[in-house]
Amino acid sequence: MAASSPHLNTFNWSLPVAVRFGLHAADEAAQQLQGRPLVVLAFPGARAHEVVDRFSREVSDTLLAWVEVPDGLSTMALGRHIAQRVWPILERSPKAVLVGLGGGSVMDLAKWVRLRPPGSNPAGLEVLMESSVPPLGWHRHELWLLPTTAGTGSEVTRWSTLWDTESALITKRSFDQPYAYADRAYIDPRLALSCPESVTRDSALDTLGHALEVIWNRHRNPVSVHLAEVAARTVLQQLPLALQRPQDLSPRAGLALAALEAGMAFSQTRTALAHALSYPLTLEQGLSHGAAVAVWLPVVWRLACGHSQEIDDSLCRVMGVPAIQGDQVLKDWFDRVGFGHNLQALGIDDVQHRVQQALNHPRGRNFQGAWSSGIL
Ligand SMILES: [Fe+2]
Repeated sequence: MAASSPHLNTFNWSLPVAVRFGLHAADEAAQQLQGRPLVVLAFPGARAHEVVDRFSREVSDTLLAWVEVPDGLSTMALGRHIAQRVWPILERSPKAVLVGLGGGSVMDLAKWVRLRPPGSNPAGLEVLMESSVPPLGWHRHELWLLPTTAGTGSEVTRWSTLWDTESALITKRSFDQPYAYADRAYIDPRLALSCPESVTRDSALDTLGHALEVIWNRHRNPVSVHLAEVAARTVLQQLPLALQRPQDLSPRAGLALAALEAGMAFSQTRTALAHALSYPLTLEQGLSHGAAVAVWLPVVWRLACGHSQEIDDSLCRVMGVPAIQGDQVLKDWFDRVGFGHNLQALGIDDVQHRVQQALNHPRGRNFQGAWSSGIL
């Protein structure tokens, strides 16, 4: 097994998003938007929630449009539809701020449509997938993100997951560019208070997935690994409390902070094998993203063990037992938080085939570990 000191690593770490975290961050965002024209993309019914209602009233004088983004996958078709709706408004107000208020899908779509081409033709959006700089003549609106679920980390990453549902084979596409970062992220744990139990759990499982995928990632670095270990331990401690006491702000704040820390951590490394394995499950069985990632975590955990002392030590610190025993502790914790999915129950009987395919996926290639038949 390779032994090395994380203190000897050379690495880069960069994040251009101004982050504000705290119990009144949403109110502060509204105050700082005073006098500025803005367009809001939000999840359906957002204004029924007290904190969002206050936000919308505070910015009402300069609000150009409040657009509800339907729940579900962030698809390219939906992105074009939203662009068609908001670009004519943004075109008349080039200084307008685009605000994304919602979970991962809302934020991912906002990151895409804040770029606006000359002539505002939404068919051109796909160009951005391949352009490492904004194409000539495109306008990049300021983007502020307010996550309302604690999980995705999209507020601090430079990519959006966008599903292409119009081609013969539905595919997951990624808009992943250095100019895709938001300008500001306001993380207010109160925004997650209204999350139903399943969203609370699945979002926290996504956070756990991001954290673990940093730890067993070929691109890991000491700063990201530190953030990831803290985030993973926080999720393990705070999710059971958040499920027991959904109106208690303390575990909500813990999960929001963990989501931010994991988001910052994987903003530098991207995800790995469990995410690569999750995408077909989301398409085939409609499993939420967090659940589809989590269901693979015990398998990937075992595949990660025994290849690097550094990774084993990290996994040990996360779970408090030797790394090789951690997958069982994780499964027991899944039972405690009512996560009932497992590969067998989902009818997945081709684990080896799926893992081997996923190891060739761009995210799978980030994984530092190997297939071992002993895990079955
Ligand atoms: Fe994820």
